[in-house]
Amino acid sequence: MPENSIDSLLRESRLFPPSNDFAATSVASPELYERAAADRLGFWAETARELLHWHKPFTETLDWSNAPFARWFGDGELNVAYNCLDRHVEAGNGDRVAIHWEGEPGDSRTLTYAELTTEVKRAANALTALGIGQGDRVAIYLPLIPEAVIAMLAVARLGAVHSVVFGGFSAESLSSRIHDASAKLVITADGGWRRGKVFPLKPAVDAALGMLAASGAESTVSTVLVVKRGENDVEWTEGRDLWWHDELAKADPEHEAKAFNAENPLFILYTSGTTGKPKGILHTSGGYLTQAAFTHQNVFDVHPETDVYWCTADVGWVTGHSYVTYGPLANGATQVLYEGTPDTPHPGRWWEIIQKYKVSILYTAPTAIRSFMKVGREVPDAFDLSSLRVLGSVGEPINPEAWIWYRDVIGAGSTPIVDTWWQTETGAIMISALPGITTLKPGSAQVPIPGVKVDVLGEDGAPVTPPSGGALVISEPWPAMLRGIWGDPDRYVATYWAKYSTPQKSIYFAGDGARIDEDGDIWLLGRVDDVIKVSGHRLSTTEIESALVSHPIVAEAAVVGADDKTTGQAVVAFVILRAGKAEGQSTEETTTALAKQVTEKIGAIARPRQIFIVAELPKTRSGKIMRRLLRDVAEGREIGDTTTLADSSVMSLISEKFHAASGTE
Ligand code: WT7
Repeated sequence: MPENSIDSLLRESRLFPPSNDFAATSVASPELYERAAADRLGFWAETARELLHWHKPFTETLDWSNAPFARWFGDGELNVAYNCLDRHVEAGNGDRVAIHWEGEPGDSRTLTYAELTTEVKRAANALTALGIGQGDRVAIYLPLIPEAVIAMLAVARLGAVHSVVFGGFSAESLSSRIHDASAKLVITADGGWRRGKVFPLKPAVDAALGMLAASGAESTVSTVLVVKRGENDVEWTEGRDLWWHDELAKADPEHEAKAFNAENPLFILYTSGTTGKPKGILHTSGGYLTQAAFTHQNVFDVHPETDVYWCTADVGWVTGHSYVTYGPLANGATQVLYEGTPDTPHPGRWWEIIQKYKVSILYTAPTAIRSFMKVGREVPDAFDLSSLRVLGSVGEPINPEAWIWYRDVIGAGSTPIVDTWWQTETGAIMISALPGITTLKPGSAQVPIPGVKVDVLGEDGAPVTPPSGGALVISEPWPAMLRGIWGDPDRYVATYWAKYSTPQKSIYFAGDGARIDEDGDIWLLGRVDDVIKVSGHRLSTTEIESALVSHPIVAEAAVVGADDKTTGQAVVAFVILRAGKAEGQSTEETTTALAKQVTEKIGAIARPRQIFIVAELPKTRSGKIMRRLLRDVAEGREIGDTTTLADSSVMSLISEKFHAASGTE
């Protein structure tokens, strides 16, 4: 049975009360919950005023009259980049380190707040010269180098909108994202370092733009700005491609940050849903930055003068937006940024970085923790991790066993662990313990943060009576909430607000199942839709199925997320081939070709762990594929109830094939 199954969660009963020492100095206090409970909107308004600089103060906190389309701080004006940069320099903290960057090959760079501010000003001037202004969309496709953060902030400074695309996505994924957002400019690099090698990025941009041209789409991209990082050879399109360093060298280091409305769009971030087409999640400025800064400060207990914070996420994901770029910099924190993989060139690389920079707060994903567990505690034990005082987890449920290991081995048996639940759509952390305040329960994300209201609803749409399970919903609007799906307001309403809203009240359905215990603590049970989480990365089974079906030899495909000891879930595909199309190919050749197809269409992150060629798929009489049964097969379980199957012999055939191939009999 997998450790993160509901059974092991329900057996878990250890409690870890906060230590008095920690509570004595923690930023957060129980009074936050009281203030927020007494006046939720007033609490957010005070927080927004306290944590941010407003060029024009707001008088209105929330306009929900056009629900589910929200306006937060709607008559206020601010500049997001000014809040992350200039004001810290003006306050006398220009010499504080903003970023300790560590490249994978061992090179490093340190940027103070003053230096980072100047770089962003130069980049903003360079972008202006290239025609970028308020509302324009800029695609960013970069490795995890300081320029990724600089590019995001320069775009934000101009009131333009960034769309960061994770460097692991394929040219085809990049092209559809560039097209959907009608990006005017792309910022990329020649390549970046990963696993000891340079992986090319610029060629993928060339290919993506080539695909758009070939499809007859009107080209919106006039410029490709290229950061030199990998030193790999790249092709050059004169008149379109420019080197980042040339443009920045020409640019003025002074730039005045203009004020933009609190609801000015800040970024679009594409994420997988239950259909084949990724959704462009839209976030705006004032509310987003308020909640990103508030949660970063209180959930991680950040003391900017002394802490060194490290979030291991890539800026291609929402965690990298809210807890690498915006939250930490809005709070004037010092952080570590690391380009490469955890085990390059040796398995202790992360622990060596923590020792080197005296990292005090670490925020990472359960998958990483489980992979370190597998290698053994000797590796981290060889480094001095005594600087660590808060540990965070995000992206998927953390099983109690991994939680305890994280605390014992990485946290010297004493650091608080905050398991933070949130989504690309929520923009910032929604459910988490607060260190120094909450008594911790391994495996539970615990309680909504002050100012956030969630519920667990039963089949009838009413809150369940604890202890019990149901659908996790967010019952009141929150400042960092998504403002829509780019270009598709109907899909926004249908996807998130249709299921549980009533004519009186708009309720956001998160897509997760959860259990609420007798203390009111929340235990996440995974997605209830066709979204899966592989190493914390969000994938759509439907999107992978369309990638497979687009291959000429495939007639039908069904994809499920199967439990995986390290990655949480893994992609397992069942494929029916077209008659006669794959003749003369061995099964291995066929499955390799299909895995390659998924890598090309989506990216290596979506590559199936296993592909089974089958003669039939289990279907109901109405023709719906019964994924539950496929999951049973993929996880090596006895097949469940097959009585509604049109042909129940299909399952035994699939099951035999699976056991023969994976040797799990
Ligand atoms: C989905 C959102 C949150 C930023 C990174 C992922 C799952 C996220 C947890 C957690 C259990 C979690 C949910 C959610 N998830 N955090 N602490 N415990 N599950 O953002 O890619 O938008 O994915 O990740 O299923 O719906 P995302």
